[in-house]
Amino acid sequence: MTPQNGFPAGGTARSGASWSALLALIALLALIALFALRGAASGQEQIGGAQTATAHDGMVVAQEPLAARVGVDILKRGGNAVDAAVAVGFAMAVTYPRAGNIGGGGFMVIHRANGDNATIDYRETAPAAITATSFLEAQGNADPEKSRNSALAIGVPGTVAGLALAEAKYGSGRFTLADLIAPAITLARDGFAVSATTLPPPPFAASRLARFPSSAKIFLKPDGSAPSIGDRLVQSDLANSLEALAKGGPRAFYEGPTAEKIAGAVQAAGGVMSADDLKQYRAVERAPVRGSYRGYDIVSMPPPSSGGVELIEMLNILEGYDLAHDDPAQQAFLMVEAMKRAYADRAFYLGDPSTVDNPVTRLTAKNYAAQWRATIDPTHATPASMIHTGGSVGGEGRNTTHFSVVDRFGNAVSNTYTLNFSYGVGLVAEGTGILLNNELDDFAAKPGSPNAYGLVGFSANAPGPGKRPLSSMTPTIVLKDGKPFLITGSPGGSRIITTVLQIVVNVIDRGMDIGGAVSAPRIHNQWVPDQVYAEPNVPDNVVATLRARGDKVVPQRPFTSANSILITPDGFAGAADPREGGALAVGY
Ligand code: DON
Repeated sequence: MTPQNGFPAGGTARSGASWSALLALIALLALIALFALRGAASGQEQIGGAQTATAHDGMVVAQEPLAARVGVDILKRGGNAVDAAVAVGFAMAVTYPRAGNIGGGGFMVIHRANGDNATIDYRETAPAAITATSFLEAQGNADPEKSRNSALAIGVPGTVAGLALAEAKYGSGRFTLADLIAPAITLARDGFAVSATTLPPPPFAASRLARFPSSAKIFLKPDGSAPSIGDRLVQSDLANSLEALAKGGPRAFYEGPTAEKIAGAVQAAGGVMSADDLKQYRAVERAPVRGSYRGYDIVSMPPPSSGGVELIEMLNILEGYDLAHDDPAQQAFLMVEAMKRAYADRAFYLGDPSTVDNPVTRLTAKNYAAQWRATIDPTHATPASMIHTGGSVGGEGRNTTHFSVVDRFGNAVSNTYTLNFSYGVGLVAEGTGILLNNELDDFAAKPGSPNAYGLVGFSANAPGPGKRPLSSMTPTIVLKDGKPFLITGSPGGSRIITTVLQIVVNVIDRGMDIGGAVSAPRIHNQWVPDQVYAEPNVPDNVVATLRARGDKVVPQRPFTSANSILITPDGFAGAADPREGGALAVGY
């Protein structure tokens, strides 16, 4: 790598003028997308305190309480953290349909009591018929209608393969997969009372569900309105699909009647997924991406998630500063500078490892961070247009969910999974009860065109047959002396990686307990748009300092949710993020 224009670079440097134009366009499009999805940031929503719990023998922190309790029950019955996580994953497909899923995908990071670490990549894949031009309109521009709202956006679901692989390889052996699916079947078959957390879809999601009769009949009342709190949600088709899976194993999802119904429904809605795409799907075990931060070890998700690489890159940059003794404004400023640089690298370099040679070792190296650090002016914001990197340049929240699990044996699981938007594309495959994702919007539909979270990408993340779109999901386990110390992760699209960064910094540099670390207001910058998003409660003097140094600061509604566990000398301390409402930390 040769520094260029004072920045780590290796390729094309655009002229200032064309950069400004590109960035302005990207900023505008991203804003439109964000507001379309989220409604304008109110700046009024306050963040409450985290619900916390302490325990000694096991703990689950998850967004939906019925599922969290399913996990603790498995732990009490002698299961390990992987058994519990698998049971929670299936249960949330029933009780938290906006993001819990078997029709989507995600990532699991595992620390084992014997000291080993593992990750399971169960990201969705693009059907074989998807090409680099699948999400363009006739003029060759990115068409968000195709990548976000149409059946073309549906990736081949990975959750069933991922949870089954995790269980087969890392479960305790005390439970069969069927045992771990059983609570989900009961919840689907008998139904459960709808709570504010579990179901009522916001208007935007309700209108998406209403497009498909197969979805509306399950998740909406006959008049099209959202169910009321206390209504019973029974999902018989989903119970049948889960039962078939429990009896026949994961192949019964990827082949045979369930797979045929999924492929049939996708095609009937105008998509291109085939039964063969489902048959070919495989979850992949990958070596975790590793880093260190002030003596702690970071274990996180490698590509096709960008999360782990970017988290480690930002931490490496920050390690060169004495954050613990900086005031909050300086801490925020330095974090924002690190964010800009890491997200620029994300945009240019990262993609599905089956087609891209991701420079993970380079991006996570301490000396690479040192080169970036040398470009940071400690008193002036660097404009995004000045951050040149890369070789070949070519809103609506609550739609992903993270849960953390620890057991008394020394195992830990950090799992984030998603349908992308709330309720994914909104389509339930008729007769299956399975909601399908719209994950393929995470590809760069066209070089430089933002996805729904305003993230840009280039050739490394172009759509293509069988490819996994680049993710921001960052399930992470921080180790201290080789043992689990912090288990964290979050939903929030592009905000996920910076959320995890701030949880780590809050605990390690700011010395916060886990409740404080999770509820503390967060900031975010993702290189483009060139602005800092600040949650309510970010102190005025922090905002003023960022502005005085040249950052554009805009308010942001809270919509991440870092359900986390810290292992303390007093036991497991869990914190359920207050932002989404209703999450539960529960242990025994
Ligand atoms: O994989 C990703 O990065 C996105 N599909 C995650 C979406 C998400 O977190 C939405 N949650 N608010």
